[in-house]
Amino acid sequence: MGTLMARMGVKLPIVQAPMAGVSTPAMAAAVANAGALGSVGVGATNAAGARAMIEALRARTNGPFNVNVFCHRPATADARREQAWLAALEPEFKRYGAKPPAAIEEIYTSFLADEAMVELLADTRPSVVSFHFGLPSAQTIGRLRSAGAILLSTATNLEEAEMAAAAGVDAIVAQGYEAGGHRGVFDPGAPDPRLGVLALTRLLVSRIPLPVIAAGGIMDGAGIAAVLDLGAEMAQLGTAFVGCPESSADTFYREALLGPGALATRMTPVISGRLARCLANRFTGLEDAELKGLAIPDYPIAYDVGKALAAAGRAQGEGGFGAQWAGQGAPLARNLPAAELVAVLAQELAAAQGRTHGSTVKTQAAAS
Ligand SMILES: Cc1cc2nc3c(=O)[nH]c(=O)nc-3n(C[C@H](O)[C@H](O)[C@H](O)COP(=O)(O)O)c2cc1C
Repeated sequence: MGTLMARMGVKLPIVQAPMAGVSTPAMAAAVANAGALGSVGVGATNAAGARAMIEALRARTNGPFNVNVFCHRPATADARREQAWLAALEPEFKRYGAKPPAAIEEIYTSFLADEAMVELLADTRPSVVSFHFGLPSAQTIGRLRSAGAILLSTATNLEEAEMAAAAGVDAIVAQGYEAGGHRGVFDPGAPDPRLGVLALTRLLVSRIPLPVIAAGGIMDGAGIAAVLDLGAEMAQLGTAFVGCPESSADTFYREALLGPGALATRMTPVISGRLARCLANRFTGLEDAELKGLAIPDYPIAYDVGKALAAAGRAQGEGGFGAQWAGQGAPLARNLPAAELVAVLAQELAAAQGRTHGSTVKTQAAAS
C-alpha cells in the first residue's frame, strides 16, 4: 500500500474525481464504502451548500472523503464584453422561445475570496481537501493542515506542480489534456503545453518529490494499471463515474455519454469562460459560428448565461446546450452503480497487474 493511500485510509488506488454539479454525496459515500476515495466538488456552491453535502456524506459513510474547491482568480466584470456575448447568444435563445438574461454575474465565489468556506472546512475537518485552478494562501493552507486535512492540488504542467509542492501540498493530481471537465490550469492566459497524461505523469514522478495521482482518460482497470506502472500512486477517474445512477447528470447528458455522441469531445471555453472538455454538442459548435472571435466574459460570469441557455433548450427538449463534461475515454463509460463500478475497476486492475507480472516473468525466462 502506497504511503498516500495509507495516510488517506483507503484500500484501493482509485479516486472518484470531484465533479461540481455531477458528483453527489451518495456517489462519494458509495465509493468510500467500496474502499476507494470518494469526492464531492463544492466549487460551485457556498459554505452552507458545502456543509449540507458533507453532512449528507457523513450520514452514509464513516470512510475518508475529499472535498474539492476552486481557487481561480476572482472574475472581473466587463459590461461591454458581457453585453456583446449576450447579443451573440440571443438568436439561440430565440430558437427556444426564450430571451437571454439582461445581465450576467459571477455565479459563485472563488475559494480565494471565501472565508466562510475556509471556516467550514476547518470546522468539518474532511480527511482530504483538493484545490483546482490554483492554490489558496499560505495562511489557508496552514489552517487546513492544522485541521488535519491531506491536501491535493491539480497540476497540468511542471511549473504548477512545483508551485503546489512549494506551497506544501501532500500530493499532485496530474491532469492530462485528455481529461473531462475544466482544465485546472492556474493562469488561463499562460502558454499551455497541453501535456497528455502519460508524459505529464512521468514528468512529475521524475521531478517532484511528492506522490502523483494521474487523471485524464482513465476508464478501466487496465488504464489504472498503466498509470500505476508509470509511477503514479493512485488514479483519479471522473468521466467513468458520470453515468452512475448516483450522479446528477440529466438524461440528455447520460444518453449522449452512453451513445455515439461520446466518440467526440472538445476542449472549449465558450460554456463557462474557462477551457473545459465537453462532449461535442450544439453549444461547443457555437465556438465556430456565432461566438467565433468574440471576447469571452470571465469565468464563471460566462457560465451564468451558459446555464440559462442550457435550461432554455432543455425546456423545449433540446439537451445539447448542457455542460456535458467528458474526457477522451468517454466511449468506454458504463452506467453501473458507483460501488459496483469500483468493484469492477478493482477486479480489472488485479487482472491487468497479473498480466503485466506474468509477461515480465515470461520475458525474463526467455532471456535466460
Ligand atoms: C463532469 C465533470 C466535472 C468535473 N468537475 C471537477 C471539479 O469540480 N473539480 C475538479 O477538481 N475537477 C473536476 N473535474 C475534472 C476531474 O477532476 C478530472 O481531472 C477528470 O475527470 C479526469 O479525466 P476523466 O474525466 O477523463 O477521467 C470534472 C470532470 C468531469 C468529467
